[in-house]
Amino acid sequence: MRNIHDIANSLTLAEKASLCSGGTFWDTTAIPSKGVPSIMMTDGPHGLRKQAGGADHLGLNDAVQATCFPTAAAIACSWDPELMRRIGAAIGEECQAENVGVILGPGANIKRSPLCGRNFEYFSEDPYLTGQMAAAHIAGVQSQGIGASLKHFAVNNQETRRMTINAEVDERTLREIYLAGFETAVKASKPWTVMCAYNQVNGEFCAQNKRLLTSILRDEWGFDGVVVSDWFATRERDDCLKAGLDLEMPTSVGVGAAKIIEQVNNGSLSINMLDKAVERILTIVFKAVDAHKQNAAYDKDAHHALACETASESIVLLKNDNNILPINNSASVAVVGAFAKSPRYQGAGSSRINASRVSIPYDEIINAASGANVTYCEGYSLDGKGDAAQMISEAVSAAKSAHVCIIFAGLPDSDDSEGKDREHVRLPDDQNALIDAVITAQPRTIVVLMNGSAVELPWADKSAGILEAYLAGQASGKAIADILFGAVNPSGKLAETFPVKLNDTPCYLNFPGDASRVEYREGIFVGYRYYDTAGIKPRFPFGFGLSYTMFEYSDITLSANEILDTDSLTVSVKVKNIGSVAGKEIVQLYVNDAESSVLRPCKELKGFVKLTLQPGETGKATFILNKRSFAFYDKALKDWRVETGLFNILIGASSEDIRLSAPVQVNTTTSVKKCFTLDSTLYDIRNEPAAAPLLQSLFSSAQGETMLGMDADAVMLSIKVRSLAALSMTPISERSVTIEQLAAMVEEMNK
Ligand code: GLC
Repeated sequence: MRNIHDIANSLTLAEKASLCSGGTFWDTTAIPSKGVPSIMMTDGPHGLRKQAGGADHLGLNDAVQATCFPTAAAIACSWDPELMRRIGAAIGEECQAENVGVILGPGANIKRSPLCGRNFEYFSEDPYLTGQMAAAHIAGVQSQGIGASLKHFAVNNQETRRMTINAEVDERTLREIYLAGFETAVKASKPWTVMCAYNQVNGEFCAQNKRLLTSILRDEWGFDGVVVSDWFATRERDDCLKAGLDLEMPTSVGVGAAKIIEQVNNGSLSINMLDKAVERILTIVFKAVDAHKQNAAYDKDAHHALACETASESIVLLKNDNNILPINNSASVAVVGAFAKSPRYQGAGSSRINASRVSIPYDEIINAASGANVTYCEGYSLDGKGDAAQMISEAVSAAKSAHVCIIFAGLPDSDDSEGKDREHVRLPDDQNALIDAVITAQPRTIVVLMNGSAVELPWADKSAGILEAYLAGQASGKAIADILFGAVNPSGKLAETFPVKLNDTPCYLNFPGDASRVEYREGIFVGYRYYDTAGIKPRFPFGFGLSYTMFEYSDITLSANEILDTDSLTVSVKVKNIGSVAGKEIVQLYVNDAESSVLRPCKELKGFVKLTLQPGETGKATFILNKRSFAFYDKALKDWRVETGLFNILIGASSEDIRLSAPVQVNTTTSVKKCFTLDSTLYDIRNEPAAAPLLQSLFSSAQGETMLGMDADAVMLSIKVRSLAALSMTPISERSVTIEQLAAMVEEMNK
């Protein structure tokens, strides 16, 4: 039986220091003389990117072929953690076959702005959905004896100046929005590794942010794996090690190791701290080695089929006026748009997979259109050449002469890329012009979108059909055709809001910040939390998606109508498929805190269930809620807290389409130490029993009168307790009170 501690003890200081940096670009350091092998860590997250020849950060060398599964932005729209787990397991199988020990993913960063170039690699604007999907991804990968690397920890929500930008975010926002998804994934699936981000959080680089990497990640959440740097994210190696960064990647060609040796020798870095990092690294190295399956192989066809199934579950039907979809018995179909033959199915950057095969939408439409006459027009050029007006004219005439037209549109590769953010969220102008012209000439037009993040859709009201395919992997061509022609009933729902325009987005004035910092001034009001609370109507809301059938919600029931915050609450609701085809419905549960003393969004996602229902079938969605379903993060308490009061359980088909609701009284078991002072206001103490007798005696008749045209209540409630001594000597008071009596009252209230 191997003993990690003994192996660590057998290493020299130099060997220990060498282990804390990569041995190459992608591999950990091997120490053959001590029986320590190396393992490869490489990208993800929606497939395996293993460079075949020399390693580099720009992907100059091709990667081995692998299955390109749908990107996170797409899979998140399936709202199906089990499917995500299956994808993770399939990726794990491919890692086994390629002798990779850790795959760098999933990305769990929140979509703060649709402008972020890497949004395609992230799941959602909502931390609950993010956490569920990230946890499932990790569980799937690790079920195959391969490590995952939950990234980028943390608050990495833009690409602009990503290596240096300082993300300034208040504690409550940090906890409730930007860490919550990571917290769920760490606690639920125990990733072998967590990758720290490049940026700073509140003035400290993630790579040496002890509060993030040790106090929160390890001490609070119980993470016991390896913290690995993003590539080239480390700074002074000793500072990073002290903060909790175990492994710097890639190799720092001896610089990191030398710094560690120097600092240990001069006593400023404890050998114990080094030993802890060494033992963590050895643990995952040997875990990977022990779990490696010799001569592992995988079924490429099965993985391609899984990629197709996942894309089918993820594509979102946004519009279907007059049931233009599914297309059936159309004699002629005009296909327009270069993406129909050169589909976008993934983004640019470190996640780019060398796809084992790619299904082409145009070819798949021909197969699915069963004998219809299918024409094709390029519609717009991908290389910026060609006569745009001429291409639009050709497309309009082809669309007019067909029974139905399908336009393939979306973002150019450069807009969905690591390393840079977009400056606007429009589709290319030539595509918007094409779409406008075609839908005007041919009302029976469906637009299929291939984009990694939310876009403005100025023509949406005029388009009969819209299908959001996102970047749905190598098999998305077939999945799109299956949905267009009815072989698959779409069930995806948006995991991010599509705003009408960029200006509507909550961080519009604070993205991407200035040369050194970006302020998260919108706080917790990200995505639907902002739009719904501020009453700003989006183009398409979070959680929205149509089906070829309809669903009726009924009979919401709660296991209790009053609970303690330490109790769990079971909520169930019936859903009936009232249409004529089988379908899947994603039932969402939001919680509204109706009596909060702190500012909270009008609703927060706290549960979802995906039901598969035959025509006429009634199913039941059941949710189990716990304290965190009701709690907010209390900065003063440094913990999550539920305030006693009324909450509303909202059951929705989307964040906007709330079908049922039910109240529940939640009583807190957290006693918050009261700390009233003579400078507390009457508003602060208005509900305190110990204050009631005095207040009543002082102002029983002064309610509601206006003073100089002001609202008496408002004026009185803003008064400080200490002022009552002087005020009680004026006519509005019926008795006097001394400062000593007031101090005694404050003491009584704080008991
Ligand atoms: C990149 C990315 C990270 C990736 C790593 C290795 O810069 O930020 O997601 O896993 O480097 O390619």
